[in-house]
Amino acid sequence: MRRLEYRGYDSAGIAVLRDGELYVCKRAGKVADLAQTLGENDGLLQAFVGVGHTRWATHGEPNDINAHPHLDQKKLVAVVHNGIIENFMAIKTKLVRDGHQFLGGSDTEVLAHLIGVMFEQCGDLASAVRAALAEVKGTYGIVVLSPKTPDRIVVARKGSPLIIGVGDHENFVASDASAIVAHTRQVVYLDDGEIAEITSENIRTMTIDDVTVEKSVHQITIELSQIERGGYDHFMLKEINEQPDTILNAMRGRLLVEEGDVKLGGLQNTMGKLLSARRIVLTACGTSWHAALVGEYMLEQIARVPAEVEYASEFRYRDPIVNIDDVVLLISQSGETADTLSALREAKQKGATVLGIVNVVGSTIARESHGGVFVHAGPEIGVASTKAFTSQLTVLALITIMLARARGMNRERGVMLARELASLPEKVAQVLQNTEVIQKIAQEFKDTQHALYLGRGANFPVALEGALKLKEISYIHAEGYPAAEMKHGPIALIDKNMPVVFIVPRDGIYDKVMSNIQEVRARKGRIIAVANDDDTEIEDLAEFVIRVPRTYGFFGPIVNIIPLQLLAYYIAVARGTNVDQPRNLAKSVTVE
Ligand code: G6P
Repeated sequence: MRRLEYRGYDSAGIAVLRDGELYVCKRAGKVADLAQTLGENDGLLQAFVGVGHTRWATHGEPNDINAHPHLDQKKLVAVVHNGIIENFMAIKTKLVRDGHQFLGGSDTEVLAHLIGVMFEQCGDLASAVRAALAEVKGTYGIVVLSPKTPDRIVVARKGSPLIIGVGDHENFVASDASAIVAHTRQVVYLDDGEIAEITSENIRTMTIDDVTVEKSVHQITIELSQIERGGYDHFMLKEINEQPDTILNAMRGRLLVEEGDVKLGGLQNTMGKLLSARRIVLTACGTSWHAALVGEYMLEQIARVPAEVEYASEFRYRDPIVNIDDVVLLISQSGETADTLSALREAKQKGATVLGIVNVVGSTIARESHGGVFVHAGPEIGVASTKAFTSQLTVLALITIMLARARGMNRERGVMLARELASLPEKVAQVLQNTEVIQKIAQEFKDTQHALYLGRGANFPVALEGALKLKEISYIHAEGYPAAEMKHGPIALIDKNMPVVFIVPRDGIYDKVMSNIQEVRARKGRIIAVANDDDTEIEDLAEFVIRVPRTYGFFGPIVNIIPLQLLAYYIAVARGTNVDQPRNLAKSVTVE
């Protein structure tokens, strides 16, 4: 449960079966709070069948009652659930009419009651789950157990990930591999619409209509060290510091520097589609959406492929004009984000070729795409995404070079771009060695209430991402804008207390950004500049300068975001917030 806590952490609970009895313990707060309570109930965990859950509240506030597991009216079943039951109100009304009483406001409690009713009628847990789910609209990854059938659990999935770990005289279920990797590396990925009945010896998989499904067993490769903090104070700091390696991992075996070209095995089968695409639509959420914005610059400017970016949640619901000539590129760290997954299905259904840039191998987006590229950043545990972002950008750069070459870019220019890309891990390492000034800035601004981040071109999305990092983990209100847009509104916010972070590399629009800096300075805003090592003019204008090595324009974001990740980190630490598990956020949002 501790390993899964990064996905949801407002409350936690367990249910175990022992001697034909069901024992439940749940608490608002962290897994540590639950552990403390359990410690006081000696022996509760001595059981062979059980389930635990960490919650990210959707329906009902995060208190002890709404924490999972939920029981039915007669305490015949215990249920944990990820996702949302959309028609829970209608089901609840009917159950209340039949005399059911509910303790809290959770949709999962309604599902538990419904399964309980079905179980009472048929006496078979898997059949009861199937019958209940037939009445349910929404998304779920559920685990159900019952004291009446104490040797088994029943699990089902639609829209929320579930994997089954295959052990030796023991089996496991989790919503992600990190929770079970210490016990087994053999896993079965349950697909949408599937149910499994699991005992210590057996795994029976079937569809919701009771048709048996044969599933293959996959091997997971993550190492325990990848999901531990390894001496760092926070996962986020560890992950920021891993970036020279993770960026390199994203390119390894793919970037052919001497040939000035790129080879991406996962795109081989769809290369024809990619080359003839009318346009590429990039769609994602959160940090991954910022990566998409940078990707748009790269694809259009370097490969000259028309590209568009859209929030996955918006794409899905506006009946987009997409057809077989389009390639839709989904970007997702987790590969499970519900909005992104819905966009994938919408695009696929309309005939487009759908490709994924995904970190988690075996995730739903990876499995449902026609092709794609894994970013190989390793597990990202800190809720605020850092290394996944730079790996996504690296993969976008690879795709760009590959397409540019295939569309006629000469070898010489290809080699130049490939060399630039290959030099990035070293440049990122350089930035990571120089955190002194960033820590100083963090001390200076830790009590600010607002901050503005400004950049242009491919560094405009860097401004957005820098601002997002700050608000996510320090709760300071921060906005990102294209630097020139500032004068059309945000400039009204600038006074002597307003920190303004400029990303101002020495590129083709350097002078324009310098003019924007002057505008802020004239209004006494406090200027923090992320500028190149060889920039001698910036010192006269900025109060603080963070130095970054010069990088080819469209690859610059991969280096320039690093100091902004660190700035957010050190400010959050100075404010004493929970860096790895910021309030209200979830790492993997499997609800729309
Ligand atoms: C959540 C996370 C963000 C993340 C976004 C998209 O909101 O808190 O950090 O960027 O989801 O996640 P994905 O896994 O699809 O990249």
